[in-house]
Amino acid sequence: MTKSKVLVTGGVGYIGSHTTVELIKAGYDVVIVDNLSNSEISMLAGVERITDTRPIFELVDMTTLSDLEAIFKKHPEIESVIHFAAFKAVDESVENPVKYYRNNMISLLNLMRLMVKYKTKNLVFSSSCTVYGTPDELPVTEKSPIKKSVTPYGETKQMAERVIQDTVAANTHINSIALRYFNPIGAHSSGLIGELPLGIPGNLMPYITQTAIGKRSDLKVFGNDYDTPDGSAIRDYIHVVDLAKAHIAALKRLNESQNQSNFEVFNVGTGNGHSVIEVIQSFEKMSGIKLDYTITERRAGDIPKIWGSTKLANKGLNWHVEKTLDEMTESAWKWEQNLKKGFK
Ligand code: UFG
Repeated sequence: MTKSKVLVTGGVGYIGSHTTVELIKAGYDVVIVDNLSNSEISMLAGVERITDTRPIFELVDMTTLSDLEAIFKKHPEIESVIHFAAFKAVDESVENPVKYYRNNMISLLNLMRLMVKYKTKNLVFSSSCTVYGTPDELPVTEKSPIKKSVTPYGETKQMAERVIQDTVAANTHINSIALRYFNPIGAHSSGLIGELPLGIPGNLMPYITQTAIGKRSDLKVFGNDYDTPDGSAIRDYIHVVDLAKAHIAALKRLNESQNQSNFEVFNVGTGNGHSVIEVIQSFEKMSGIKLDYTITERRAGDIPKIWGSTKLANKGLNWHVEKTLDEMTESAWKWEQNLKKGFK
């Protein structure tokens, strides 16, 4: 039987590389397009070592329609697309909105145009819990209101969902699922792939591991006056491998025509919230390293707390998280140590 071919945009990135591993393990053929703007090609060596398979890699900037079209022409067997390729730094999107709207929207519009033209069957889209803004009730469900986005990054996720919804309504050969991620952290248990933040990390987990390895000396907890048990903000951290597996489950749902409409949305979190302090404590426990950190003022734009209901994904995708917070922090630490050894 020939393997089903999946186009993974942004497949060299953090979530994309972990998903590529799971796709290969599940028997798919993977074609990656990536412009390497926020990733390093060395990540594919890690994918290859884990899976014994080197996915096809095409250096493509999706904002150039003809370059992306060349991939559809070259690989006419592509049946499904998992679309990760996007800029994702929330702060930077506020400073440079045009960069974000241009890249994230034009890439998506080009992709949609080609999926229509080449009659591609399935799309799994990388959305975010940021679409819920500051939620009124917790946990957030897929029925929770979409709040006006406070950042261009968040706006691109909302707009993208709308673009997909309208496109598949008019082109019913495409079936799509948007996965709304909560906070992915951690790395593959092999320590061969993981997150590679450019410059000073904006996110908590890489800041913690870089502090522990000695690259940073100013770990800050942004606020301890939130209405939470320890005062620090709460997020729904999910192991990146659990998140990657949700994409395989979403593709399966589409391939087996189990979807109830051609645009569906699922939360992908754990259903549990953890505070910043709890993440730090878990890291300290798993690494045996005591972290120096200071409590500072709240970071602008942060919400106090969010976690998601995963009931819909548990049932509809037949998918459940397997990994604990300790496994997340432990694997992130293993990856950071391997990076220091020049592993990537
Ligand atoms: N935090 C710190 N110190 C740091 C970094 C972060 O205390 O050095 C805190 C933040 O204030 C926040 C929590 O750790 O309370 C998590 O922050 P992250 O930056 O790791 O993640 P965010 O929840 O801010 O953002 C993530 C993704 C976004 C996505 C958003 C959706 O990075 O892409 O979740 O809510 F849009």
